[in-house]
Amino acid sequence: MNISFDFNLPTIIKFGEGRIKSTSKIINENIPGNRVFVVTDSGIEEAGLVMPIITKLKDSGYQVEVFDEISPNPKDIECEKGRAAIREFDADMILAVGGGSVIDTAKAIALLQSHEGPVALYEGRNKAVNEMKPIIAIPTTAGTGSEVTFSAVITDTKRKFKMSMRNTGFAPKIAIIDPETTYTLPRALTASTGMDALVHAIEAFTCTMSNAFSDVWAKEAIRYIFTYLNEAVSEGTKESRHYMMLGSVMAGIAFSRSDVAAVHCMAEAVGGLYDIPHGVANSIFLPVVTEFNTEQDPARHAEIARICGLAVAGLSDIEAAGLLVSELYKLSERIGIPKLKDLHNVNPKDFDRLAEASLINGSTPSNCRKITKSDYIDLFHKAYEL
Ligand SMILES: [Fe+2]
Repeated sequence: MNISFDFNLPTIIKFGEGRIKSTSKIINENIPGNRVFVVTDSGIEEAGLVMPIITKLKDSGYQVEVFDEISPNPKDIECEKGRAAIREFDADMILAVGGGSVIDTAKAIALLQSHEGPVALYEGRNKAVNEMKPIIAIPTTAGTGSEVTFSAVITDTKRKFKMSMRNTGFAPKIAIIDPETTYTLPRALTASTGMDALVHAIEAFTCTMSNAFSDVWAKEAIRYIFTYLNEAVSEGTKESRHYMMLGSVMAGIAFSRSDVAAVHCMAEAVGGLYDIPHGVANSIFLPVVTEFNTEQDPARHAEIARICGLAVAGLSDIEAAGLLVSELYKLSERIGIPKLKDLHNVNPKDFDRLAEASLINGSTPSNCRKITKSDYIDLFHKAYEL
């Protein structure tokens, strides 16, 4: 546990059912200017989530431009298109309505609006030097946490590599978090995005960057997500959607004030090479990496088992941690997470390259157990053989 840390939460959070309907009013009360650049994707538009917001904005006198050319793993070329569009429109603010891909793209477009050169120039930490226009984020999945983080992940199409960028200006000025946006989320997307949120919370809690403040958020996030994910997937009740959204934002606060670790390193490697959606990739690697990590820190993993309400009475830490691992395998199975070997194009011949990409990920040093390239190769094989 670190006793030295920074904690900064610059985002105003507006949480609750129906809050999305007040978007125009919330913007009016908090952000100057009247030119709103809306970043979204076609699926969100088809779900009917964007048009009511735009109508209200226009009725309130705002000028609105919509950019929706975004794929599930957002790409540098899409951000470049966004730069041209936002500069032409001369936006005062960026409103992101969507999942992690949309919010991350909005962050990259905000950066490119006030910075020259390719997105890759800004890979890493605090490379943005100019001010960025304020971002308002409305998440439509209970998973990303991007509405409260300083980070964005964008695929470099030439390297087939997911670049991670972290800048203070990426933190949205306002996050309008409305569980209602997830009521119609399909089952598979509820499962994979929900597992992504669980990974955020578990990695934030177990990684070497964990600290007293991030732990508070991570533990509550684990409790909510583990309790309600199965119900959100199988029944989609309002109660479960509500608590998943709460868990997701808490997990976002936790990991962006701590870090993620090896699960994300592997997920971003396969996402970059094969274009596998982030949540699916994370879901696949969570059980195998947790199994790998437990021997390094049985106490923290046992604590997670307790938070999840597993029957740990009388068990040693290592036994409780083992129970957690087996529950994670069962949870993946129960909510229908696909197998690595069933995903299009995945080939064990690529595991060396994927291990290399995982190793150079900035979050590898944060993994609680020291992890080498050959460990990563073993973990890819283990996940493939499940
Ligand atoms: Fe994630």
